[in-house]
Amino acid sequence: MDFNDLMEKAKEVSKNSYSPYSNFPVGACVLGESGRTYVGTNVENASYGGTICAERNAIFNAITNGEKKIKAVAIYSQKMKRCAPCGFCRQVMSEFRSKDGVDIIIEAEDGGIEVHTLDELIPMSFSL
Ligand code: THU
Repeated sequence: MDFNDLMEKAKEVSKNSYSPYSNFPVGACVLGESGRTYVGTNVENASYGGTICAERNAIFNAITNGEKKIKAVAIYSQKMKRCAPCGFCRQVMSEFRSKDGVDIIIEAEDGGIEVHTLDELIPMSFSL
């Protein structure tokens, strides 16, 4: 799966975001080790702590559908270029990282994509 295609899926699903409180719609698309892809959006709640990010929804969607490890996550924000994942989502990515790590794809300032690694974004991460 081409990373540009992964980003297109993240962009498309961001249209389904439920974000009336922040007005910050986000979409994410996960590439599982099977080669299948899984999308998620942020879903907010009037009790703000009940909110979940697009990335975690996409990852949990992947795991729910039988994936054991994830290879890449594309993140698209309608309001911000270079929207990097929050700390919670980085930790969840770490839980399900493939043996080759996780590539994280975000939108570059010029509208293209840029690719980072999870090891770069969460060095010395905690795991059991
Ligand atoms: N959000 C995401 O879904 N992913 C990110 O990478 C950054 C933040 C959501 C959470 C909340 O619904 C809104 O964006 C503002 O923080």
